Amino acid sequence: MNELGRLEDLPQDYRDDLSALNLVPLWPSLRAVLPPAVPTRRTLPTFWSYQALRPLLMKAGELTPMDKAERRVLVLANPGHGLENMKASPAMYLGMQLLLPGEWAPSHRHTPNAVRMIVEGEGAYTTVDGEKCPMRRGDLILTPTGLWHEHEHAGDKPVVWLDVLDLPLIYYAEASYAVEGQRQTVQPGHGEQAYARGGVVPTAVFERSRKDYPMLRYPWADARASLLALAADRADLDAVQVTYVNPETGKDAQNNLGFYALMLRPGQTLRLPARSPSQVFHQIEGGTELSVGDTSGATTFTLAEADTACAPGYTAVSLRNLSADQPAFVFIADEAPFHKKLGVYENRG
Ligand SMILES: [Fe+2]
Repeated sequence: MNELGRLEDLPQDYRDDLSALNLVPLWPSLRAVLPPAVPTRRTLPTFWSYQALRPLLMKAGELTPMDKAERRVLVLANPGHGLENMKASPAMYLGMQLLLPGEWAPSHRHTPNAVRMIVEGEGAYTTVDGEKCPMRRGDLILTPTGLWHEHEHAGDKPVVWLDVLDLPLIYYAEASYAVEGQRQTVQPGHGEQAYARGGVVPTAVFERSRKDYPMLRYPWADARASLLALAADRADLDAVQVTYVNPETGKDAQNNLGFYALMLRPGQTLRLPARSPSQVFHQIEGGTELSVGDTSGATTFTLAEADTACAPGYTAVSLRNLSADQPAFVFIADEAPFHKKLGVYENRG
């Protein structure tokens, strides 16, 4: 590829004339915005130890009361994007959120799509669109764009969850805002009961649900049981993986980010292909060695329970279950639905 002209090759008076008319020559920047074959990625392989961050999160509980925080969160920021930009990847925001016994995080709704993956604690609820969802370790609870949600905690120990939002994307689109609201009235019905069995959906007098988000809570007990059943049924299967979907449409559970659970058999090493989206890994059970990149330049992290890591797009990843006799379970979030909407999704093998 031939060298293109540089900005400093142009006479200063010509550059000044361009600037005065809000004009910019493309050629000095062409290779930067359209690099050869592989995009420029600011996302760095990054690891967040839960054991290391937990004391700082608990300290936030002492330092900042709920009315001064509204949402008491430590953001898992990728240094490649600049910590102050609060991004794990171009489209993903991650935050560890703490709710103490007796606290209430007031009702609001916002344009970014959020999910929470429950990390520890018992006795907290999140009410989403009038559905009261218990929060237990490993549960995935959706708070999609525009739906009211609030959190309350009736237990006696701290509750922590991992928030995953498409906030950087919605903020980039200049479409990010929130609305405060009143406490919600709890309505009857639980999506995880209505859609508890694959292949059948509620059909009241031949009518299917018209809700955009018919299922809001995906209990870990059910996802785990699905993975174990799949592993037992298909001893030949390398990747024992499930996707969190909208049970009415079979499509991704949310608009822009994809959510998955993966089981590694005892001692198993699984290589995931280089795909265009960035991805996030959160250890639900067991321990996993995560290698991001190929053998020539891999970054390796050891994920213990509740640890989180992120990997840039166009990068192969391999996961090794550190236990020889127990399965390991990993929650994955990625930007695949967004890439598919843009028409840029690739799997490079
Ligand atoms: Fe929220």
